[in-house]
Amino acid sequence: MESVCRGNSTGGSNPLASATLNQHQDKIIMDNNIVIKMSGLTKRYGYGDTASFALQDFDLEIRRGEFVMIMGPSGCGKTTLLNIIGLLDRATDGEYYLNGEDVSDISSARQARLRAKKIGFIFQDFNLIQNLTVIENVALPLVYVNRPRTVRLKAASNALKRFHLSEREYYHPSQLSGGQKQRVAIARAIVSDPEIILADEPTGNLDSRSSSIVMDELKAIHEEGNTIIMVTHNPALTVYATRVINMLDGQIATDVKTVSDYNLPQPISVKSKKRRRKSRKEEK
Ligand SMILES: Nc1ncnc2c1ncn2[C@@H]1O[C@H](COP(=O)(O)OP(=O)(O)OP(=O)(O)O)[C@@H](O)[C@H]1O
Ligand SMILES: [Mg+2]
Repeated sequence: MESVCRGNSTGGSNPLASATLNQHQDKIIMDNNIVIKMSGLTKRYGYGDTASFALQDFDLEIRRGEFVMIMGPSGCGKTTLLNIIGLLDRATDGEYYLNGEDVSDISSARQARLRAKKIGFIFQDFNLIQNLTVIENVALPLVYVNRPRTVRLKAASNALKRFHLSEREYYHPSQLSGGQKQRVAIARAIVSDPEIILADEPTGNLDSRSSSIVMDELKAIHEEGNTIIMVTHNPALTVYATRVINMLDGQIATDVKTVSDYNLPQPISVKSKKRRRKSRKEEK
């Protein structure tokens, strides 16, 4: 088990894990495997005497293929952190690099584009749109990346098949059980093949059987090399994680890796396999 000290590079002694500041170019040169880097991040609500801090001088590096679980008491800043990572919210201060790009200060339109391309969300209360069918809900993220309707529905149908929900494609969310709703939400989160999946207490509203089905799905998605960051109050679920962060009062209290950086799953990219095949043909 590897313990990660606050304020240090999260890679510990691994030289590949560190990002270095190049003084001449004045930008962060990052290891390609670091998908998220935050430094000195602060989220403040209110001003002066009434100011309160949801995140305070927060430093974090997350590598591709990590399954990070974030725990901590109510109000310690877990959702705030997830919303900032997912570009749904902005920090008041500090730096945030997503895949090496400084996203601390980008426009809302750029935030929305990046979010659609790179991030899948799963929420505790599923956040499905009630007057859309299951397949339309799952297809929704592809609207934001301008895929034609037939492509969207085909991709949504494939995602639902993976979660054994093909027979429910034309149901409405109100006709599903909690576990089924959450599996639809997971299908929606992965339909655009995002690099990062963010889940805020995805099993919070589920019984233990549905909860373990949902966790098994997340585990399978992680084993394909995806990066998952999940908030939970349930310590039993940390067996699925490769890293467990405990937060307290807007800061990291403990940060423990249970899998070393070298043993994280590698991404399975269907696209790159296709591309490899194509370039081999071209070589011939
Ligand atoms: N819009 C807001 N205005 C003022 N304070 C806020 C706002 N949103 C969140 N906060 C405060 O920020 C702090 C962190 O909230 P956050 O929702 O991130 O907590 P959490 O760790 O997710 O809690 P829980 O486990 O209950 O979901 C809390 O003290 C909360 O009251
Ligand atoms: Mg929360």
